[in-house]
Amino acid sequence: MTAPTRDYSLTGPESQRAIERGLADAEWYRSPIDPARLAELHQRSDLRAGIDVVLWLVLLVGAGSWAWVALGSWWAIPAFAVYGALYGGAADPRWHECGHGTAFRTSWLNELVYIPASFMLLREPTVWRWSHVRHHSDTIVVGRDAEIVFPRPIDVRAWAVNLLGLTSVPAMVRRIVRHACGRLDADVAGYVPSELHRRVVWEARGYLVVIVSVLAACVVTAGLVPLLFVVGPTFYGAWLMAFFGTTQHAGLREDVLDHRWNTRTVYMNPVFRFLYLNMNYHVEHHMFPTVPYRNLPALHGEIRDDLPEPSPSTWAAYREIWTAARGQAAEPTFELDRVVPESVSSTTRAATSVEHGEWIDVCAVTDLAPGAMRSIDGSDGPIVVCRASSGEMHALAGICTHSRRVQLVAGAIVGGELECPKHNGRFRLADGSPSRQPVTEGLATYAVQIDADRIRVRSVPNQASGSTPV
Ligand code: FES
Repeated sequence: MTAPTRDYSLTGPESQRAIERGLADAEWYRSPIDPARLAELHQRSDLRAGIDVVLWLVLLVGAGSWAWVALGSWWAIPAFAVYGALYGGAADPRWHECGHGTAFRTSWLNELVYIPASFMLLREPTVWRWSHVRHHSDTIVVGRDAEIVFPRPIDVRAWAVNLLGLTSVPAMVRRIVRHACGRLDADVAGYVPSELHRRVVWEARGYLVVIVSVLAACVVTAGLVPLLFVVGPTFYGAWLMAFFGTTQHAGLREDVLDHRWNTRTVYMNPVFRFLYLNMNYHVEHHMFPTVPYRNLPALHGEIRDDLPEPSPSTWAAYREIWTAARGQAAEPTFELDRVVPESVSSTTRAATSVEHGEWIDVCAVTDLAPGAMRSIDGSDGPIVVCRASSGEMHALAGICTHSRRVQLVAGAIVGGELECPKHNGRFRLADGSPSRQPVTEGLATYAVQIDADRIRVRSVPNQASGSTPV
């Protein structure tokens, strides 16, 4: 196997180097889009997500029933192949979308899918939730991103072996055992907040109980049938996840702060798009993780002129990755030809000076539609003025408390909550308190008045706002 040319661990020298180069938790490029249109694209639907999940489950149960009936015959091979792909492959985008909290409008429905899908993939729920936060903060930044699948040069043999999960899944199982014994890996301890470390240990123990129970059932029944239905498909179904997931970033640039250079959008057929939940629009997903999967094709239509040319098919994406693999085998710094439109720099508004305690005139009530937001300058920094779907007005501090640099005005209003555009953390509009991790600290709130059909906001925060924890 080909040795990577750089240290891709999160605890080696590349990690410090990335921080020194300003690549950690940095500001990323986002294509311009009309805020009103973006607010439309943010809409989530329990009905639509429910239909997609139920359809997946019906297919899964149908394939499982076929496999059960076919046991002992040659038909069992295609039956388990389909069952495994739906279990160990199609579970991945469901896990992913619900982990972002964007599939369903109702938060607990996302969790209802996220937890079992995590087990189907043998991904510890808390560990992977936070590793994915890091992946979105520092996408393909060496030493920072915990989810770089293709170190340079691309190792095609290692990729082929992992089509059956033969190295990735055992590595996850070994980590589950370590965590169940109370020993957290150094990288995990680095990106999962310390107050959640006990939860990681108990989740790993829960996984081990189920895995051991499945193995015990195999011993009792003197056969492998239980393993073929539970845990086993994480291995033999992994190929579908690899088939789609490989197209996301393989062969593209490292250490850049623009997803147009390190992420790939691929046009796929409707069957693939159902199985993969539209994650083929991957540049769009990374730039706007608040947009649910079902709206990614429409988002693509809005910003496509600002994106590199998408791969016209899955086959074309693989041809490009093969070119990268061959080029990197000869020279690990090899880069694909990729034409990226010149960045449209966002015009930075000069901060206006605001008197301490003054009432700021924002706009007419009719100029702020339900679900819309607007940023203004307060005495201590930006304030985001939000109009909830119910029509209520709220004003909150405009910078996310998670990274302390992301402007919340680019996020989404979801029911009575404000969602951050970077990692889908949420704050309650009513009092600024955190309601979804990774945010754990609330936002200051500001008084709002409606005066002669104008919205006015006080420039200094209310006292004791944002204190209720997640
Ligand atoms: S920057 Fe991470 S949730 Fe806001």
